[in-house]
Amino acid sequence: MKHFINQDMLAPNVMTVPVDDGIASEFAELAGADDPGTDYHVERPWLKYSDMRWISARTERAFERFESAFDRLDVARHVRDYVDLDKKVRFFTGFLHTRSDCRESNFHVDWKLTNNEAFTLLVPVRGLESGPRLAYKQVTGDVATYDYKRGEAIIFGDHFVHSTPEGLSEPPFTMLVLYFGTDKMEHWGKLLRTQGFQCPLLRRPDGEFLRVDPQKGPSGPGNDVEWTAEAPKPQALGTPGNLSKDSA
Ligand SMILES: [Fe+2]
Repeated sequence: MKHFINQDMLAPNVMTVPVDDGIASEFAELAGADDPGTDYHVERPWLKYSDMRWISARTERAFERFESAFDRLDVARHVRDYVDLDKKVRFFTGFLHTRSDCRESNFHVDWKLTNNEAFTLLVPVRGLESGPRLAYKQVTGDVATYDYKRGEAIIFGDHFVHSTPEGLSEPPFTMLVLYFGTDKMEHWGKLLRTQGFQCPLLRRPDGEFLRVDPQKGPSGPGNDVEWTAEAPKPQALGTPGNLSKDSA
């Protein structure tokens, strides 16, 4: 079964799982750094909606930090039944998302028509005192909220419509965002619609590194983004490909 409904949340392809809070907390110092250094890349996407800042890996050394967290959180097992696998769930990339002010909600999906070949994980790193929440749409059409909790991650795939709720977070809230999924290259083009414009360093399903200019998107053999009528290339949003600039 490739798709599922969370009966408690009344939403598609989403689950909450217990995780080791200590692993997420390892990123607290990096999240608070004014200048994270040359190993890292900083993006400030969707300024219209929020003051969010993303910190992702620019070098393989920094990438290893995110990949190690993914391995030690031991979360691949939760999606193994949904993604198309040859051998193992592949970690694609990760970043830190920090925000203090969301001026306007921006409901979106991270993964569109991928048939759950990739998932997003969000886990709080710091700033839980501000009571951060995630707004999402239920299958009934109602908007509900999820309260981030220490030691708990939320994982979602296709069709999970969500947004940062409007409001202030004081102190600023940081979460660790991880992307992972299939290890088959045949699905890569549709997964690049989401992550090909966010972080400068990705690991492909075949395990190879892919370097990307987040402003221009991926290039090279095997790295063509698959745009479809249902998932058209976004226009006039400031930067190309930001179907999912807000991984809130
Ligand atoms: Fe998102």
